[in-house]
Amino acid sequence: MTPLRIYVTGSSGQLGQALKEESIHFPHLSLRFLTKTELDITDSNAVNALLENCDADYLIHAAAYTAVDKAETEQDLCFAVNRDGSRNIASALRHTRCRMIYISSDYVYHTYNGFPLHEESPVNPQGIYARSKVAGEQAVRDTGIPAMIVRTSWVVSPYGHNFVKTMVRLGKEKDRIQVVNDQFGCITSAGDLARTLLLMTEKWHVETNAFHPKFHTIYNYSNEGCISWYDIACRIMECKEYHCHVHPIASREFASAAPRPQWSVLAKQKIKTNLQFEIPHWITALDCILDKVDN
Ligand SMILES: NC(=O)c1ccc[n+]([C@@H]2O[C@H](COP(=O)([O-])OP(=O)(O)OC[C@H]3O[C@@H](n4cnc5c(N)ncnc54)[C@H](OP(=O)(O)O)[C@@H]3O)[C@@H](O)[C@H]2O)c1
Repeated sequence: MTPLRIYVTGSSGQLGQALKEESIHFPHLSLRFLTKTELDITDSNAVNALLENCDADYLIHAAAYTAVDKAETEQDLCFAVNRDGSRNIASALRHTRCRMIYISSDYVYHTYNGFPLHEESPVNPQGIYARSKVAGEQAVRDTGIPAMIVRTSWVVSPYGHNFVKTMVRLGKEKDRIQVVNDQFGCITSAGDLARTLLLMTEKWHVETNAFHPKFHTIYNYSNEGCISWYDIACRIMECKEYHCHVHPIASREFASAAPRPQWSVLAKQKIKTNLQFEIPHWITALDCILDKVDN
């Protein structure tokens, strides 16, 4: 059986590295990892040269500008990567058979209604990063290529910079920290997301044509649960047995340049039904990551 060929952009990032680790468990998939040095997605000539005639079956677009606060002062760069870079990729794939998977964000919703946010919920992006992610989704859709959009939240992993790693560092250094307790959502283990994406490619490639509604659509994905950043910090201190007191505070007490959604609880019934699988609970996911992060 010929292995499915999958390209991954932004492969040094959290999701990119998780895909590398997870791919070991998928012998029927052949992944090609593209770092920013190997493929700068803002360079349309380079993107065309690599992708216009590529033989990939899927491209997982994990490259993004993700510095949410910095984006408020780097608007041009943020849009160049998240909107224009995504358009470059989708346009280059137009005459290939490659399907694209665009990773998007809970930030696109920015609505607090107390119910899990469905894929059909209206978008209401606040801040530069959020608007650039919506613009990226639209740019990909506008090219008309077969594309799946996966909106995910609070990505954490043993790699790069993220909330879990920051808490582990602070737990070792401090005896008291303050953490926001009025933003609700759930972590997404980059490893769990990576496994899900690879599972989809393997399962649906034979089952569906490229524009099948199972593929050419939007999915939410995060781990299971509805928690605040404070809950996560408490669990980390407990698991790591750090003597660091976590004090809950309101968002207004924690200054940040970009607006943060107060409600990032994603409805995931659609992906669970279509893939017929269970999503790991946030505690399972977090504990697994903590096992890989040094004390
Ligand atoms: N992190 C989160 O909490 C979160 C939440 C919701 C959704 N998401 C989305 O999930 C996806 C994966 O996020 P992540 O956490 O894995 O992000 P990440 O760790 O910041 O990785 C992004 C990668 O993209 C690369 N990149 C930046 N500019 C590029 C360019 N011009 N050309 C090629 N590569 C470029 C970065 O390289 P350098 O590091 O060298 O710049 C980095 O390796 C993104 O689409 C993000 O928007 C993330």
